[in-house]
Amino acid sequence: MSRKPIFAANWKMHKGPSETEDFVKSFLSKTQGKTFHAEIVIAPPFASLARLAELLHTASAGQNAHAIQIAAQNCSEYDAGAYTGEVSVLMLREFYVHYVILGHSERRSIFGETDKTINAKIHKAREANLKPIFCIGETLAEREGGNLETVLRTQITEGLRDVSEKDLAETVIAYEPVWAIGTGVTATAEQAQDAHAFVRSVIAELYGAEPAAKIRIQYGGSVKPGNAAELMACPDIDGALIGGAALEPQSFLEIIANGSATE
Ligand code: PGA
Repeated sequence: MSRKPIFAANWKMHKGPSETEDFVKSFLSKTQGKTFHAEIVIAPPFASLARLAELLHTASAGQNAHAIQIAAQNCSEYDAGAYTGEVSVLMLREFYVHYVILGHSERRSIFGETDKTINAKIHKAREANLKPIFCIGETLAEREGGNLETVLRTQITEGLRDVSEKDLAETVIAYEPVWAIGTGVTATAEQAQDAHAFVRSVIAELYGAEPAAKIRIQYGGSVKPGNAAELMACPDIDGALIGGAALEPQSFLEIIANGSATE
């Protein structure tokens, strides 16, 4: 089963419109003439979506610009109305957004998002034909307490509640151990592969063998140019969700190049 790896830059609350422009110009000049067997995605803050869309998806944007997809870092579970500070899925569509990161551990731990909220957002995203990048992952205490599988199983089962097989096919899962995010500590390739194989087995229990074999599962948590090849060589790892190392065009590019070369 060949799955095209997907490398997504999660900029978090970094880069306003002008820094976005600097990054994209530099990234595009570095990728000129190169092709990768990989999908490339950038998730900027909401405030930079318009500039990013202009740089990548207007008629004047170059050929390699069109190859980059845009993701949002969140969306509202509501359509419209009195929800101060929220952004709806239909608004995101106007900025050529194709993916939306949902359930990131920072949304869960800092902003109190629950499996139920995340599930509602996944359904809302699919109504607008956005593809969820659905994040799951355990804390260090959960792993050390022997609860890794229970935690992942609950997050997957609750997050994907009532999500159809058709919508699952448009979803990417990102396994991000919380203890590896922004810490410089990466899961070993073996730890990551074991967790990914487990996630795939839970999808197989819920949806059957074929959807499980098809779904892409990204690894996230301190991915860098130096560890991308080893992680991406694991059979159940299909790309990466990258924070810190995707803030620089050169290191994002090296991760993609090193990670997709092994496919
Ligand atoms: P990191 O972040 O690469 O800086 O660890 C990953 C993420 O939070 O998605």
